[in-house]
Amino acid sequence: MSKKLITNGTIVTASEVYEGDVLIEGGKVSAIGKNLAREGAEVIDAKNHYLFPGGIDPHTHLEMPFGGTVTKDDFETGTIAAAFGGTTTIIDFCLTEKGKPLKEAIDVWHNKSKDKAVVDYSFHLMIGEINEEVLSQLPEVIEEEGITSFKVFMAYKDVFQADDETLYQTLIAAKELGALVMVHAENGDVIHYLTKKALEEGKTDPIFHALTRPPEAEGEATGRAAQLTHMADSQLYVVHVSCNEAVEKISEARRKGAEVYGETCPQYLVLDQSYMEKPDFEGAKYVWSPPLRDKSNQELLWRALKNGELQTIGSDQCSFDFKGQKDLGRGDFTKIPNGGPIIEDRFSLLYSEGVAKGRISLQKFVEVTSTNTARLFGLAPEKGTIAVGSDADIVIFNPDASRTISAKTHHMAVDYSAFEGMEVEGEIVSVLSRGDFIVKNKELTAVPGRGEFLKRKKFNTSERSEERFTVM
Ligand code: URP
Ligand code: ZN
Ligand code: ZN
Repeated sequence: MSKKLITNGTIVTASEVYEGDVLIEGGKVSAIGKNLAREGAEVIDAKNHYLFPGGIDPHTHLEMPFGGTVTKDDFETGTIAAAFGGTTTIIDFCLTEKGKPLKEAIDVWHNKSKDKAVVDYSFHLMIGEINEEVLSQLPEVIEEEGITSFKVFMAYKDVFQADDETLYQTLIAAKELGALVMVHAENGDVIHYLTKKALEEGKTDPIFHALTRPPEAEGEATGRAAQLTHMADSQLYVVHVSCNEAVEKISEARRKGAEVYGETCPQYLVLDQSYMEKPDFEGAKYVWSPPLRDKSNQELLWRALKNGELQTIGSDQCSFDFKGQKDLGRGDFTKIPNGGPIIEDRFSLLYSEGVAKGRISLQKFVEVTSTNTARLFGLAPEKGTIAVGSDADIVIFNPDASRTISAKTHHMAVDYSAFEGMEVEGEIVSVLSRGDFIVKNKELTAVPGRGEFLKRKKFNTSERSEERFTVM
């Protein structure tokens, strides 16, 4: 944790873009200015480079059992890929089992991650049922474990899906305890019926995954969750928003004063449903839930990010090999494990497709890839910005370079990339986490286990400032 001085960079935050030097001491930003004294410091020249706050990915599934298999990237390969991709903090989903102590599930996730992570990390906790037993454990989850967000699935019937009573009670408990409720918003019952019917009719190809999960099923569940949030006077975060039907429900709820936030993912901004029709079962590589949508949704999602109707970008990293995992669903699309590898490309895709193509500003890029996530999930002010006193989590980025995404060069453990051959503007050169280089000149310099578990602050509605509402 030596003293470092990054000189001549262009510092980008959610509100400013300016030239300056950044002094780092004790893992923190200790000064920002021009011509700062360099005695005793390692000097890094960042002329013609942007200095972005380290990315915060609020949505990952590392080493997670799902769809009859386990996601391929674990906390080591997944966080190494995150580091190469400019992400210095992740929040992973900790799965729980009905009838078992919540602490047991949290310990399982601690065991998966300790000694492995190279970036800082935290957990969201899945809530699959609510009863006196569960309610009595929640204060400890928040106060002792520092886990201040709960995830409720409205889909995956007979696997993760919870009913509306569970969602409503979780919203009430979260309001009382200071947590943010997250939902996977799709109508699981209707999807269950549609998938059964499709299989009966012999419709087994990957494209039927999309056709049995229509955008209306996402819009309906999003609207329902938003209404329940309004009724409970609580707070909600809708993960992986894929379509206009869901954005409209979030916007409507926000206009009516409900505290509802939304995340989208690069795959919905860049890919579309036609990828699922690729021959030779290749469409399986593009099976996500919610599914990829008609291309017309892409510009609407970009606009929602730009206007602040959606606040964050998650990767929904949930990786499976094509051979040996995705192909469990040959002949039955319902058996294709849902999800894809993207933790490494979240930041680059947003910059290239967003900033370089003029869809969003540099400040908005920082807001949605880092700052808003830190604020919503109790990580600010240490994370999510470059400011005196904040953690020195910094990405040194060359906007004049470009690279081609490929499974041959990525660091994720899987055998394909959903963005194979795509050229992206800009290149991540070096990444610092709490003042240490974890990637230096495109080489890994971190050892597994250096990443720290972050106990997060409560979601505190009393700090719900006008500024937070307008910025977001
Ligand atoms: O297809 C997806 N999204 N896989 C990950 C699990 C989830 O629903 O987020
Ligand atoms: Zn989901
Ligand atoms: Zn997910």
